Amino acid sequence: MTKSIVTCALPYANGKLHIGHMLEHIQGDVYTRFLKIIGKDALFIGGADMHGTPVELNAAKAGIDVEVFAEAYRKEFVKNFKDYLVEYDNFYKTHSPENKEFAEFFFKTLKEKGFVKIKSMEQMYDEKAKRFLPDRYVKGTCPKCQAEEQYGDICESCGTIYNPIDLINPYSVITQTKPVLKTSKHYFIELSKFTTQLKEWIDQSNFQSEIKNWLQNWMNEGLEDWCISRDEPYFGFEIPGSEKETGSKKFFYVWLDAPIGYISSTKNYTDQHNWKWEDYWKGGEITHILGKDIVYFHYLFWPAMLMAVGFSLPKIQTHGFITVNGKKMSKSRGTFFTADDFIKLYDAESLRFYYASHLDNKVVDINLDFKDFQAVINNVLMGNLGNFCYRTLVFAQKNYLTIETVAEEKELEQEITTLITEIKEHYHTFDFKNAVKKILKISDIGNQYFQKAQPWSDKDSDESKAAVGFCVNLARTLSILVQPILPILSKKVQTTLSEENLMWKDISFKWTGVLQKPEQLVQKIETLPISNDFPIQMKVGEIIEVKDHPNADKLYVMHVNFGSEKKQIVAGLKKHFTPEELVGTKAVFCVNLKPAKLRGELSQGMSMIAEDDEGNLSWLNPSEDIELGQEVQFEGLKNAEKEITFDEFVKIKLVAKDGKIFYDGKELQKVSVSGVKDGATVR
Ligand code: 2FM
Ligand code: ZN
Repeated sequence: MTKSIVTCALPYANGKLHIGHMLEHIQGDVYTRFLKIIGKDALFIGGADMHGTPVELNAAKAGIDVEVFAEAYRKEFVKNFKDYLVEYDNFYKTHSPENKEFAEFFFKTLKEKGFVKIKSMEQMYDEKAKRFLPDRYVKGTCPKCQAEEQYGDICESCGTIYNPIDLINPYSVITQTKPVLKTSKHYFIELSKFTTQLKEWIDQSNFQSEIKNWLQNWMNEGLEDWCISRDEPYFGFEIPGSEKETGSKKFFYVWLDAPIGYISSTKNYTDQHNWKWEDYWKGGEITHILGKDIVYFHYLFWPAMLMAVGFSLPKIQTHGFITVNGKKMSKSRGTFFTADDFIKLYDAESLRFYYASHLDNKVVDINLDFKDFQAVINNVLMGNLGNFCYRTLVFAQKNYLTIETVAEEKELEQEITTLITEIKEHYHTFDFKNAVKKILKISDIGNQYFQKAQPWSDKDSDESKAAVGFCVNLARTLSILVQPILPILSKKVQTTLSEENLMWKDISFKWTGVLQKPEQLVQKIETLPISNDFPIQMKVGEIIEVKDHPNADKLYVMHVNFGSEKKQIVAGLKKHFTPEELVGTKAVFCVNLKPAKLRGELSQGMSMIAEDDEGNLSWLNPSEDIELGQEVQFEGLKNAEKEITFDEFVKIKLVAKDGKIFYDGKELQKVSVSGVKDGATVR
């Protein structure tokens, strides 16, 4: 039998896993569990990616030895996987003796076959830290749009890609000093030598269509030499003989030995069982699962390396990113969930089911919308699948204790058998979404059947017993079909049937046997995470016109420019300012106030002014770089978009201190006040 390896990208041992990582590991786990349940010899292999500059510098920052630091994260990952029912056969690491040996083997083979060359390279060098700087460790002003604080590889403001050398006023992120250019010799893999082989491989593959497009574009642009070495200090494996060949010690670049970690983790596992890693990597079937950000590494660099050594070429499955409530996960919006955070709120199977019901073969982002999440778990998982299995098992156990007869339902059996075949195919092609749909179709059929049979109206009749027997068989079948996604629910159902570890081949419509008391199968979702929004939406605007209110002595009617839109705001400022003083004022305004007519004039917002007990006033002054229409925020809090009423507005307490405004101890960023005493409040 062909032996299979399934892998997910090895996470950097440099920070916590979040629910975006979990999407991938759950996808890998579901797929491997599926392979195992259909009887394949499959291993789920992973590990922590320990090498590289960020790991090293973060360990140094934490004052911890880098190996100890990375190992602590590896242990945390293992715990996360346990929490989420992600069952790796081996979760190892790249900083291992096995990986060192394989990395050297790959390098030596590539070199012997003439794929490696040495070239001089100019790089940014930090003279104070005495080290070369990777692109992300140089910052400066974008040469194109002058945006400040941009990384050395790409401007996040205008999207321009450049070399760190091109930055205006570049500085090292490590020491804040100005880097210099320095030359050093490096090893490169001549990727272009693999062009024909890679092209053939891509053409005959059935990669996802988005991926094929990207690959074809990259191939058309031509493959460039890939630099696989780094100067010291570097946390990684030293390249044997490098000092002699290049004039100074060199280390393998983290991305050279990271994918090799897939093999060394396999070997670490097979060695423990006296099996052969070669059975998997030479002639076996390899499936890599990864995110769209690391496509280039896995579809070009890595296969080229495998081609050079003659190992099996992989199948690859790529997924998109996770968004939460429709947006990129963000700490300030309260939508960034580490794996640890999330599992405190919800159980693993809820997330597994939600992800599975959204994952298909496309490279698109998956939105974790909390309202949708609640609906999917409560109405679909619980209301359909859970409900059918639970009511069937409870009814059968309570009334009969054993199942002795099963109704023969030829037509339904035919329909369900077809669905089962399709479900299997969907799992095979990573179309978990449609697998779930069809599983639910079966529980739907079951629910309708049970409803129609009304076994409760005549419990002891032969028909009722046989009908319930049929439903119990469906629940049993469902426990097998859904096992890759919901291993606990599956186990609970099978325990009720006095069975365990059922395989795909055990699916039948003829099961009879003894029942145990069933446990509750699904946990309802009652609460959704409170988002830590700040209730006022604050934007910077400029007063462009001020008129007297036609019907009120103390009021002005102002027009305020917010860049792309203008708003009319009615304000009681007459006793403090003349119209001339107001026009041209650039300040912070509340823009989500429920529009209201004040003495017949529409007001679409609110001015925000700090006032102390001596009657001194100050606008909330935005810093120079903030443009009209831009939002200002309290540290860590996102502005709400929902409308608020005037009554709600006045209850919110904002206080001035040291020329800054605070809410709940958090500072309003990029805004200052002047001429008011500490303790002044905003009204
Ligand atoms: O992008 C990342 O998180 C990398 N640590 C993935 C490595 S995948 C493989 F090559 F090991
Ligand atoms: Zn720019």
